[in-house]
Parts: sequence; C-alpha cells; structure tokens
Amino acid sequence: MVEESAERKVYFKTFGCQMNEYDTGKMHAQLLRDGWAVTTDPADAQLIVVNTCSIREKAVDKMHSALGEYRRMKREGQDVVIGIAGCVAQERGDELYKKYRDVDLVFGPDGVPQIGKLVAEARQGRRVLDTEFLDLENYPFIQDIDPSAHGVGSFVTIQKGCDNKCTFCIVPYTRGVEVSRPHQEILEEVRGLVARGVREITLIGQNVNSYGLKVDGELTFAQLLYAVAEVPGVDRIRYTTSHPRDMGDDVVQAYRDLPNLTSHLHLPVQSGSNKVLRRMKRYYTRERYMRVVDALREARPDIALSTDFIVGFNDEFEEDFEATMSLLNEVGFVGSFSFKYSPRPGTPALKIRNPVTPEEASRRLTVLQDRQRELSTDFNRSHEGRVVEVLVEGPSRHDEGVICGRTSSNVMVNFPGDASLIGSMVDVRVTRGFTHSCRGERVV
Ligand code: 5AD
Ligand code: SF4
Repeated sequence: MVEESAERKVYFKTFGCQMNEYDTGKMHAQLLRDGWAVTTDPADAQLIVVNTCSIREKAVDKMHSALGEYRRMKREGQDVVIGIAGCVAQERGDELYKKYRDVDLVFGPDGVPQIGKLVAEARQGRRVLDTEFLDLENYPFIQDIDPSAHGVGSFVTIQKGCDNKCTFCIVPYTRGVEVSRPHQEILEEVRGLVARGVREITLIGQNVNSYGLKVDGELTFAQLLYAVAEVPGVDRIRYTTSHPRDMGDDVVQAYRDLPNLTSHLHLPVQSGSNKVLRRMKRYYTRERYMRVVDALREARPDIALSTDFIVGFNDEFEEDFEATMSLLNEVGFVGSFSFKYSPRPGTPALKIRNPVTPEEASRRLTVLQDRQRELSTDFNRSHEGRVVEVLVEGPSRHDEGVICGRTSSNVMVNFPGDASLIGSMVDVRVTRGFTHSCRGERVV
C-alpha cells in the first residue's frame, strides 16, 4: 500500500479525434517508463494533461471549462502540474501560456515524443512552452504500445500531419505537414498489439490514402493494407480518414482481395454541391465521389458507407444544401458526422464573408440529421432476421448480462451473453434494428 501512495499519478483529459486518443495513449506509455501511473480521478493526480482539439470552436470551449475546473483544484491547494497538449496548445500556445499563469506546461502534438523531458522540466518549477514542429527527417513516431490498449481493437498511426489545405480546416496548421511512418514500424506495432490480444486494427492518419507517396521506396497505402492483412492474428482492418480525391483503384481492389478488410468505409464528402466543394478546395466533384462509391460497391457489394458533412459553409445557398441532401439520399449513408461550419483562425475560408446565418445553419443541420437518423434506422432494420458475425468487444453499457460487438459493416449489436466471449467472433441473429444499434440473440 505504501508503494501505491508513493506512486506519481497522471490524469489525462482527451478531447477530439482518434489521433488525439492515440497521442494520449503514447503519452501514457512514455510516462509509465518514468514511473507514472494513470488515475481516473483528477483530484488524485500530481500531473493533469489536457489533450485539446481545435477543429471547431465548441471543442475549444470544452477545453476552457475543463481547464477552469483543474485550475480551481490547484488554487484550492492540490499540488499538481497542469499541462495543455494537442491542437489548441499548438495554435494558441503563446496566448494560453500568458493567460493561465498557473498552467505549467503547454505543448503541441509534436511535443508528444518528448513528454518525459517536458514534464521533468515543469516539475522542477520551470514553466514550459513548446510549440516547435519537429524535424521531418526521422520523425520520432513512438513505438511504445499504449498500456491501456488491451481491448479487442486498437488504433495504429501511419502518418502525422496533412498536406491538404481544405479551406475550412485548421489541421494542417496544428499538426503540420504530412509525414509517413515507416511501414516496418507500423507492422511491428501491429504485431505487438496482436500479441496482447488485439484482433481489430484501425490504421489512422489525417489522409491515409496519400501514405508513403512522398518517400522513395515506401509502400503505398494499398500495399500497406495487404501487408497488415498478412500479419497473423489480424482478423479485421479498418482505417480512417480517407480523402475521396486520393481513393485509388488499388485500394478499391483491396476490397476484392482482402477478406479481413472490413465492409465499412468512412469517406468524408463534406458537401454535395460542386460549387461548395470548389470553395472548400476539396479537389473532387460530386460526380467523381459517386464514381468512387460505385467502384467500391462493385468490389464489395455489402460495403457500408459513412461520411462527414459541413453545413452553412461560406456561400452555401439553399440549392447547395439541397444538393447535399440529394447526395445523402443517393449514397444512402449508414451514418454521418455533421457539423455547422465553424470559422477557424488562420484558415483561408476565414477571410470570406459568410452570408449563412447561424439560425439557418442550425436549421439545415437539423434537416440533415433527421434524414440521417431515418437512413441509419433503415439500415439497422435491414438486418432484422439475418445472422451476422460479431466481434465481441465488451459488456453493454446499459444492460447487465448483455454484451456487444460490431459487424464488419460497423453495426453495433447487443445480445445476451457472457463476458468470456469478449474477443471472439460469434454468430448473432438480429432481432431488432434501432437508430444506433441492433439487438440480437447468439446462434449456437
Ligand atoms: N467547421 C466545421 N466542421 C469542420 N470539420 C473540419 N473543420 C471544420 C470546421 N472549420 C469537420 C469536417 C471533417 C471533420 C473531422 O470535421 O467535416 O471531416
Ligand atoms: Fe483537414 Fe482536409 Fe486535411 Fe482532412 S484532409 S485534415 S479536412 S485539411
């Protein structure tokens, strides 16, 4: 017990995308080596790291309120080092550092590989601000496996940064230029995860389709998929995020060749209007997007497609929004993340006056989300009566004695069962489809 209380504890609060979750895991892995343990209670921590997201203003607001809480705890006497990490730290590091004098440590995504050193400095009483981007040559992707990665599925990063300049997006400014992680390192991490019992690998990057293209002799993204698929024990491969412009025939072919590549693809379209797509600098048209969809469906007839939409972008007229709605229906997306356009500091679109009022943007968002709910429900209901293969992930969050997992098409299925089934692939007959999940019974 004595050792337990002598342990230094870190509390992580993570906002944002999978990349941030993954970065938190890597910070955890590195701090573990320096003798830190993770706690789920901020009041119990000697170090609090807030990993922030700046993709929309709402995410930034959430960071400020979380931070307010931790700073209050410190004011009231908790002996704790507070760090702000991630995209807001990168973008507004200076401002945060000056504004919050009781925050000890501010560092961007490129600070993740050096967290041990940064924390040590801060613990010696020095305030630290580090928002330098690292050298692109030999970029230090962290090999240590996230100690909490013991579930059924795990993320593996394949690249950092983004070379696209979609006019609404802050990511290229917070995460810097694109760097591909050497495939040998990726495969080593995949093997390490499989050895710990992970069965589903999700390859992550800001624009995975351009993986390896800038490096002589590196695999292409499609070749990487084949290489990961060959690792013994990898039952399922997912990946995110894809850019429709870069979705090549070789990746489409992988859906014919690789049974462990899942029948689900998240392919952000943003808008169904060519005018809006042009203003976003997405470099594809609606027609090109539909050609990719058709090719994917030819290669893998049961592929389920999900997407991201932005509504109320600069100069999105009613007819442009109608085009988005018609695309939603034409593709029949099984799910989507949809957002009101949020002007971001430093991005090209910021300079353009936006005539779409916030009220109108909210209305459009509601219309879109209502229709999406119908489509998602239809899709889930289409499973009723069918037997599907489910990779069991864990206990259901709501019901005792019920476990849940996903199909290859990413449908969440809840069914009565024992926790001993976690990690196995089981056949389940779907009895009911709802908006976000299905219910079923195990077939034995
Ligand atoms: N406003 C609203 N949504 C945005 N996204 C990215 N930038 C913005 C912004 N400025 C959305 C896009 C992207 C997803 C990750 O977040 O739809 O695909
Ligand atoms: Fe942002 Fe576009 Fe890069 Fe995605 S592809 S991270 S939307 S700039």
